Amino acid sequence: MFFNMTTKLYIEKDAVSNHKKDIEGFGKKALIVTGHNSSRINGSLSDVENTLQSIGTEYIVYNKTDENPSVENILDAREFALSFDPEYVIGIGGGSPLDASKAIALMLANPSFGKELLFDTSLNYKKALPVICVPTTCGTGSEVTPYSILTLHDKQTKSSIPHHIFPELSLGDGKYLSYAPENILINTAVDALGHFIESHINAKQTSFSCLFTEKGLSMWQTVKTILLKKEKTYDDYETLLTVSSIAGMAISHTGTSLPHGMSYSLTYNYGIPHGKAVGTFLPAYINNSDAKNKSQVLKLLAYNSCEEFSSDLEKLIGRTVIKECDYNSYMEAMMSNERKLKSCPFTADKNTVSAIYKDSLLSID
Ligand SMILES: [Fe+2]
Repeated sequence: MFFNMTTKLYIEKDAVSNHKKDIEGFGKKALIVTGHNSSRINGSLSDVENTLQSIGTEYIVYNKTDENPSVENILDAREFALSFDPEYVIGIGGGSPLDASKAIALMLANPSFGKELLFDTSLNYKKALPVICVPTTCGTGSEVTPYSILTLHDKQTKSSIPHHIFPELSLGDGKYLSYAPENILINTAVDALGHFIESHINAKQTSFSCLFTEKGLSMWQTVKTILLKKEKTYDDYETLLTVSSIAGMAISHTGTSLPHGMSYSLTYNYGIPHGKAVGTFLPAYINNSDAKNKSQVLKLLAYNSCEEFSSDLEKLIGRTVIKECDYNSYMEAMMSNERKLKSCPFTADKNTVSAIYKDSLLSID
């Protein structure tokens, strides 16, 4: 068994300004990586800028990270920052900018390599620049995971890069979540739910990973109540953020499994948000797993049956409609994703995967 959690994580009000001393230790030149707008709106970018100014750190801002960032997006960010020569990278936002910041940090440390480095760990390369993460949504867990998931346009899907880059420092503050639209809070919280379920029902499950999944799954009813509340408090947002980080710690040890593997085609081809796409397959994944895992997970989630869970989840994320011709190619893509198939602790043959599709919150047009 192995346990590793190298990120120093603070979740508290004003976390960024409270920990300026920690930030100062990373050097005098920072590249900030954000999405297009939200970090400006929710105050996270100005908190980071004010803190960097107060400690005399120079910085530049790359604010063109797309949702589900592509390999091209990473190379564009490196091109933008290379002459500035930053000592470290600060990712601010949801999963997209945080994942991108890790890949950008790797490419900046290795300016002589092209995109081939992103998916090849056998080359003679330098380790990534240090990364600091400031999460502003509540699902990805990227602030505590070593993962960076990128869109591959040539393969028409998404994939995790094989380099494992843990952020060295993550600073979470519930106040940023209060600016996120309802649907983003729901979708990202369902992503975190997926991380718990897929980490628990996983071939790499250990006693350590179960510490996180058992705690997290048992908090689902609290999370659901918060998601359905019209007026949320600061403590509610902090709970959502904390749960998402616990889920990140779980998948740092196991990775994800079939629902994530199946979700990538929906996101790439139909633009379905990541959390919703993952949630589409969660009840069916539990239903098709072995009896022990199925009853454990349902009990922790406080449901009597997969049908009850499915109907609750449908109320939050709805159903997704796809064309029948797409279904066949998505099946094929899933059956060729060896990494995700291997992570499944029960037999994941064509029949089982097909049963998960049929039981899912997908409607075939
Ligand atoms: Fe995810």
